[in-house]
Amino acid sequence: MKSTLNELRTRVQAALVAAFGDEYRESDPLLVSTNNPKFGDYQANVAMSLAKPLKMNPRAIATQISENLEVSDFCEPPAIAGPGFINFKLKTDYLEAQLKAMHGSDRLGIAKANPPAKIIVDYPSPNIAKEMHVGHLRPAVIGECFARVLEFLGHDVMKVSHVGDWGTPFGMLIAYLQEAYPEPQAAAEASSSGDLATFYRKAKKRFDEDETFKETARQAVVKLQAGDPDVLDAWERVCQLSKRSYRKIYDLLNIAEDIIDRGESFYNPFLPAVIEDLQESGLLVEDDGAQCVFLEGFTNKDGEALPMIVQKSNGGYNYSTTDLAAIRYRINEDKVDRIVYTTDAGQSNHFAQIFQVARRANWVPESVELSYAPFGLVLGENGKRLKSRSGEAVPLQELLDEAIARTRTDIETRLEKEERTESDAFIQNVAEKVGIGAIKYADLSQNRISDYTFSFDRMLDLKGNTAPYMLYAYVRVQGISRSGNVDLSALEADVTLTEESEFTLAKHLLQMDVVLEEVATDLLPNRLCQYLFELSQKYNQFYDRCPVLKADEPARTSRLVLCDLTARTLKLGLSLLGIDVLERM
Ligand code: ARG
Repeated sequence: MKSTLNELRTRVQAALVAAFGDEYRESDPLLVSTNNPKFGDYQANVAMSLAKPLKMNPRAIATQISENLEVSDFCEPPAIAGPGFINFKLKTDYLEAQLKAMHGSDRLGIAKANPPAKIIVDYPSPNIAKEMHVGHLRPAVIGECFARVLEFLGHDVMKVSHVGDWGTPFGMLIAYLQEAYPEPQAAAEASSSGDLATFYRKAKKRFDEDETFKETARQAVVKLQAGDPDVLDAWERVCQLSKRSYRKIYDLLNIAEDIIDRGESFYNPFLPAVIEDLQESGLLVEDDGAQCVFLEGFTNKDGEALPMIVQKSNGGYNYSTTDLAAIRYRINEDKVDRIVYTTDAGQSNHFAQIFQVARRANWVPESVELSYAPFGLVLGENGKRLKSRSGEAVPLQELLDEAIARTRTDIETRLEKEERTESDAFIQNVAEKVGIGAIKYADLSQNRISDYTFSFDRMLDLKGNTAPYMLYAYVRVQGISRSGNVDLSALEADVTLTEESEFTLAKHLLQMDVVLEEVATDLLPNRLCQYLFELSQKYNQFYDRCPVLKADEPARTSRLVLCDLTARTLKLGLSLLGIDVLERM
């Protein structure tokens, strides 16, 4: 199925060329979908932007464009409004045919990218050896959404977790493992059955109470980096232990199973080549014994260029060096077209800097896109970074468990009110899906750049822009198919639109493709949430005003198709947010 917006874009571009010549072929028609029926369904704002180059009045430009427009196969004659907007209104038979095609397509008519791009999404990348806490929530949830949207659009997506698995924090755990389990057999057992949190706590206790232990831990780091086989062995066990504990949480959060762990250690062998390359391209400068690249646009308080240290005077490498090696590897070996990173905004400078150095070193071909999607903090209701009562970051497991428990209480209260009985397994499943969905939705529905306040009450509210609300909207549509005993997917019928609320819903349904394109470009999942929220509102209005099961044919079947399209769009949209729908709640 062709995207209506893209088709319009092509037509306006053709009209621009016909009216003003070939040099306007690449001009952006500045098309937007309008949510106000008074102005039609789409609006092109290009006339205003051409006033200067054409030295013409925008209304005259708009007139000339519209005289050259060929859209009569799917639009009413375009109208010119205000200073020079061109307004388009879709023809009813076109809308009806699009909806029918959408209904017959298992992708809801959304085309796949052609050609697909090879894209690495770099997430969720926690630092190994420490229990996951609330700070790890956002990269997992946001990164997963990017990966799902890009994959659905047909791209070849590689999910790569750049886990911190090298360096100082490991010394403590390695030293502890070696001290507590000197026998290899016992060490193997402990690391394959132990739990990371307990392990970490015990190691930390030894570290804080014993100076000798501290020194052993420091030595362990040195030995690790020198490749001592026993220490490497212990390091491997610590990594395994961490991965196992992450996976438990990832599973609960619906995080992809095919994430590739390529920790910082993976790039070790490629670090010297980074330095050599920088040397060759003339970017490397020795400063105070360290190897640096002086940055453009990053200065200290005296206005002097800041250095990025890529090799310390003791020969050690930094987080930045590893990321430079990763960019090089991904471009040269993985042959990517795009890399998408998502981390807390605190790392914005880091990414701006490594992108700059990679570009100045000529590692990044013009065709490769480096995208960085920063996100804000998770705040507690006191407006400060979310912390547990003891002042530490809240363990993620605890947060998820609480969401599930609270949702369970809500469900039990609701069932009691409705005098319904359900099995324990049913209630628990709903609680897990809704509770976890609520946390994810609350995160994704905010503009990711802002901080957001974590509130169970708000995210579990059945009435707001929340996961429970969206999931419930889906269940209601399914309820119609149950009570009318109709198999929605098997409907074969023409769509006939007559009522205003049907038109509003229909037009919204047709915009899913554009929204997904936007999310893929701007990396803002909240647009998808907003779209889905508006969809359920428009659906509710339609449902209030138009009888479905009680309507006469052909309206009855046509409306059932609208119900089905709404349900499938909700299901698809939520799944791209990493949230599974439920058939009953
Ligand atoms: N492990 C890092 C951290 O916990 C995040 C890594 C993000 N990705 C990257 N390529 N630097 O802060």
